[in-house]
Amino acid sequence: MDLRLEGKVAVVTGGAGGGLGESMLVGLLREGARVVAVDRNPERSAALIERLSAHGEAVAHLADVSDPHFADGVVETATEAFGGIDVVVNNAAIYPSKKWDEYDVEEFSRVLDTNLRSLFVMSKAVVPVMAGRGGGSIVNIGSITFLVGMPLILPYVTSKGGMVGFTRALAREVGVHNVRVNTVSPGAFPTGGETIHPDPEGYSQHVIDQQSLKRRGTGEDLADAVTFLASDRSSFITGQMLEVDGGWAHH
Ligand SMILES: NC(=O)c1ccc[n+]([C@@H]2O[C@H](COP(=O)([O-])OP(=O)(O)OC[C@H]3O[C@@H](n4cnc5c(N)ncnc54)[C@H](O)[C@@H]3O)[C@@H](O)[C@H]2O)c1
Repeated sequence: MDLRLEGKVAVVTGGAGGGLGESMLVGLLREGARVVAVDRNPERSAALIERLSAHGEAVAHLADVSDPHFADGVVETATEAFGGIDVVVNNAAIYPSKKWDEYDVEEFSRVLDTNLRSLFVMSKAVVPVMAGRGGGSIVNIGSITFLVGMPLILPYVTSKGGMVGFTRALAREVGVHNVRVNTVSPGAFPTGGETIHPDPEGYSQHVIDQQSLKRRGTGEDLADAVTFLASDRSSFITGQMLEVDGGWAHH
């Protein structure tokens, strides 16, 4: 697919964990974008940039997305390195797991600040930059756990549900600047988190049983959807949620 991202600058948060964010960064680079990888982990960020440089131009920006002031620095780095921002992928997230009443208020807030408030903070900083360049695309990474109401991750599911409302409402207000806002909601992907499952093989079979398509999803499956929504090939699509889950949730 030629998505013509040459000349575009894309910011992706949470790519240094080696999970889905890295696949998205590689997908964007392969289509010709230059990228800024925002993460809080310095060693992992440095290693990430080394891997990404095989695919194109990439710089790291160290930041904690739960900080209410993190986004101005992101704009500065992207502007200095590449002259602006056209695409933002809000991918960084945390997902502590326990029974709902075992979370304290501080932890509940920390999950929301990281997974949801960060979208507001980022949008306040980048929408004016995008508007000044004639438009842009914001892609938020959700989760189908919101559609199925998955237990034992209550703050996470709450944050991903809020993200869908945020996407729809922001799309209404920034469309006038030709800025588009969409959510991509992954199903279950075999990233690092899964290997600590007590029965990884049994879990993998359970996932396949739930899906319409009888294989596990790959980072590339997700990157293709994100890259499409980042590109001008989706220029009339905004306010949407796209499930990339092999036909699990059928929202
Ligand atoms: N893996 C799956 O099966 C799956 C399913 C549904 C949704 N998702 C979503 O996809 C996205 C990526 O998931 P993943 O499996 O690659 O997760 P991951 O844990 O491998 O990656 C998350 C990244 O976010 C970064 N991060 C966390 N808190 C941060 C903060 N405060 N500031 C800056 N960076 C921070 C981490 O350093 C890490 O690099 C997440 O939004 C997740 O909710 C994943």
